[in-house]
Amino acid sequence: MSRLIILSNRVSLPQTECVAGGLAVAMQDALSQLGGVWVGWNGKKIEQPFEQHFDILYKSKITYMTCALTQQQYQDYYCGFSNNTLWPAMHDREDLIEYNPKEFKTYQDVNRLFATKIAEFAQPDDLIWVQDYHFLSVARHCRELGMQNKIGFFLHIPFASLEIWRKIPCAEQLMDDLCHYNLIGLQTAQDQENCISVCSVLLKAQKIQNNMISLNQRVTQIQDYPIGVDVKGIQKTLSNLSDQDQYLTNPSAIKTIIGVDRIDYSKGLFERFNAFAEFLDRNTAFHQKVQHVQIASPCRLEVATYKRLFERFKLKVELINSEFSQDNWLPIVCHYDSKPHHELMQFYRNADICWVTSLKDGMNLVAKEYIAAQNPDNPGVLILSEFAGAAEQMQDALIVNPKNRDAMIKALKLALNMSLEERQYRYHKLIKQLIEYDINQWRDDFLKDLNSSQYIQNFDYNHRLSTVLFYPNYSSRI
Ligand code: UDP
Ligand code: G6P
Repeated sequence: MSRLIILSNRVSLPQTECVAGGLAVAMQDALSQLGGVWVGWNGKKIEQPFEQHFDILYKSKITYMTCALTQQQYQDYYCGFSNNTLWPAMHDREDLIEYNPKEFKTYQDVNRLFATKIAEFAQPDDLIWVQDYHFLSVARHCRELGMQNKIGFFLHIPFASLEIWRKIPCAEQLMDDLCHYNLIGLQTAQDQENCISVCSVLLKAQKIQNNMISLNQRVTQIQDYPIGVDVKGIQKTLSNLSDQDQYLTNPSAIKTIIGVDRIDYSKGLFERFNAFAEFLDRNTAFHQKVQHVQIASPCRLEVATYKRLFERFKLKVELINSEFSQDNWLPIVCHYDSKPHHELMQFYRNADICWVTSLKDGMNLVAKEYIAAQNPDNPGVLILSEFAGAAEQMQDALIVNPKNRDAMIKALKLALNMSLEERQYRYHKLIKQLIEYDINQWRDDFLKDLNSSQYIQNFDYNHRLSTVLFYPNYSSRI
């Protein structure tokens, strides 16, 4: 029987610290029903390459197969090419893109490392599903290692426009590598369009149908699959809570706004907090009546841009609090950590408003989780950035441009004053869509298409060997 093998950089290992980030949460939800093998980084760093080996753990239908990264891999592949080149590029931050060929080489080494591991244990009929921008090239390495499995790829973040890709020296190679996947999944229709157009222009790949391109006798399907959340699971978690647990955030009459974000420049945190400060400045009647609770999960602190952002963010929160706080009231309560998922659901449930202000975001699962966690009898209001992928489906939220401060303040006022009737109307429309296309449907749709994609046959990968870089001889132990 064929198995599902998932590869992602982050893996939600059982009994380890919770991981903030849509990918790990989504994969955990997607795999928990179906079971399978989950391959990736264990989150640790080691000094010496010879210490690198894969550990195996079996837990409730999932086999985890993870290894540490060497310091050099961590710096060049993770902090460097993934998060200092690809991440800013995909989030329209051309000004932050740094490109270093050495980092790109290590990126390829790490892609090869994981491809080699998968090639070692995969059976020919196993389905392989690779996740996110850390692994754009894995399929090409798998093919060079002789694998003919069906290999799919899902990009959890936006797909950059041609204009941006042209600024990255290795863009052509990356697109070529990407076209070794049978199926490329993207979050939105816009991302699908960008991906097809970049492959067609940079590689002169032939478009053979709306969503299929052909290159060197290979056919790749490029399709959007907007990721969903585990609505039933979230509702079940909340229904199991005792009354006491239910008031974690704010038991008083103060209205609560929740924000849940990794501290990332793509999340529009300054746009939101500046708007909130101006709202307080203009609306003294709301002083002591509203509080912004922010789960601000620090991340990628070894990347200089993120470290600077973290410091600036903390300062911004302190400044606003020192300007407006009165008696026992703090306008912003910030938690600088990552909460376990079930705890987060209580924060959502207890908040009157969820404010999502991404300047660019693949989907934004927080927006969907917030709606899934609401009490239908007294639902809260979602204010959602038009630049989050979720806005394509969640048009019944209050959609706002986070760069337009007046519009942000207006949306906040509307949300604070919204009648129960309107809140329920919007909630019912939003939850209906979330139930119809939840995480299981997303996974099943992708896997169904991957399963029916064509096997790659009779293709001679040897002619590509000139492009293969030098790979160290990693020791691998299962
Ligand atoms: N998350 C979490 N604990 C936290 C903060 C976030 O479990 O303290 C989860 C959250 O529930 C969501 C994901 O991290 O599933 C964030 O996904 P989103 O798509 O909103 O943003 P990303 O971080 O992937 O850019
Ligand atoms: C986004 C990315 C994920 C990543 C997550 C957290 O959701 O799409 O691939 O895991 O951010 O970032 P980190 O760098 O901590 O893994």
